[in-house]
Amino acid sequence: MKVEAQKKNALVVMPRMVVSVRDNDGNDNALVVAYGGNCSYDPPMIMVGIVPSRHSYPMIKENPCFVAHLLDASQKELYECCGTKSGKDGDKLKEYGIQLVHGKKVNGGVIEQCPVAIECTVVDSILTGSHEMFVGKIEYVHAEQDVLSEDGRIDLTKLNLI
Ligand SMILES: Cc1cc2nc3c(=O)[nH]c(=O)nc-3n(C[C@H](O)[C@H](O)[C@H](O)COP(=O)(O)O)c2cc1C
Repeated sequence: MKVEAQKKNALVVMPRMVVSVRDNDGNDNALVVAYGGNCSYDPPMIMVGIVPSRHSYPMIKENPCFVAHLLDASQKELYECCGTKSGKDGDKLKEYGIQLVHGKKVNGGVIEQCPVAIECTVVDSILTGSHEMFVGKIEYVHAEQDVLSEDGRIDLTKLNLI
């Protein structure tokens, strides 16, 4: 028997990423994002949804690029820090000793310990309601070699995602 379920978050399968952003003064921040996913394979693009009240929001508006990271299940501390602390209350990355290196293609920070990091340039955005969805053209994908299949694709079965 089928009954009507809640509309909110009806698509229960959502990726959990840590998205890093950088303002024009070079300050980095990162937050957990579950709203997002693939939105084009040609050209390759993904989207991430950020609530306008987040500290990260004016940063991505100012410097329109981001790096989306997939997290290994062992990275609980990074996940909790980015998903519960706000950059409004201080530099959470510094506080938790999270190391960033400069992106290869975008002016953003890459969290080295994540198995996959996807550098993107924002090409469009739409305020859908609670979130603004930022469409990012994929510029570079960093991946640990052992999570790739023979043809260079990221193999989900080789990742132990958080
Ligand atoms: C599982 C999970 C999913 C989340 N998904 C989103 C999301 O899609 N978009 C968003 O703006 N915030 C999301 N958040 C909340 C932010 O990660 C959180 O408020 C963070 O502290 C914001 O950081 P900031 O204020 O430094 O930008 C999520 C948090 C968790 C734990």
